[in-house]
Amino acid sequence: ALPVPEIPKCLQIRSVTKGLISYAESLEMKQCRRAAHACIWAPHPGFTNFGECRAAIMMHLRFDGTFGFPGGLIEDGEDVIDGLNREMAEEIGWNPALETRKNMVLHFFIVQITLEQFTELEKNCVLAPEYGNEVFGTIRVPLYTMANEYSGLPAFLNNKFIGIAKQQLLLALYQQKIMPESEITEVLYKSQNYKL
Ligand code: GTP
Ligand code: MN
Ligand code: MN
Ligand code: MN
Ligand code: MN
Ligand code: MN
Repeated sequence: ALPVPEIPKCLQIRSVTKGLISYAESLEMKQCRRAAHACIWAPHPGFTNFGECRAAIMMHLRFDGTFGFPGGLIEDGEDVIDGLNREMAEEIGWNPALETRKNMVLHFFIVQITLEQFTELEKNCVLAPEYGNEVFGTIRVPLYTMANEYSGLPAFLNNKFIGIAKQQLLLALYQQKIMPESEITEVLYKSQNYKL
């Protein structure tokens, strides 16, 4: 069975022209194109052969060669949450029946599930309608830093990301307390230390 998540939190609302905006401000922007994407993650105790797992965070390789989160454009007249549900169904084969505040501009959601649910979701991703078309494979973000102070998360952050997906990933790490701010800063510094 597919996982049933908690009601997600909207982490951030961003307008291309105005930057970070509040819920009240987003209500005034009626003419804007809206997009909604979601970070699905699960706490993940234990270690890989390369470092501590900490969390399973789902991103995917997009048709354009960049990494991003599942989600997409909200159609004209479509409710944001309905649109996010539709894009999640198309891209990862999962309709989690999201509920949250409505009528925002650019929406970044967080959905915490269990590792068991996460693993089940990953298996189902290849069966999603857009697999092989918009989406070229789901990935887990490596969250450790190896002894060379570059391999793992610092190296991963040197990939190309769509839009502000990289910043959204860092926001999720910080907001969900997966990684303290000091360590995020350190990882960003190490990611400049290109070694591979
Ligand atoms: P189509 O169904 O082919 O139209 O694509 P889509 O509806 O799935 O839209 P997509 O996911 O490509 O998102 C629309 C736009 O939102 C993209 O062109 C990017 O500018 C932006 N975008 C895509 N993914 C992300 C993401 O993870 N984070 C952020 N901030 N923006 C994203
Ligand atoms: Mn091998
Ligand atoms: Mn899509
Ligand atoms: Mn999409
Ligand atoms: Mn779409
Ligand atoms: Mn589409």
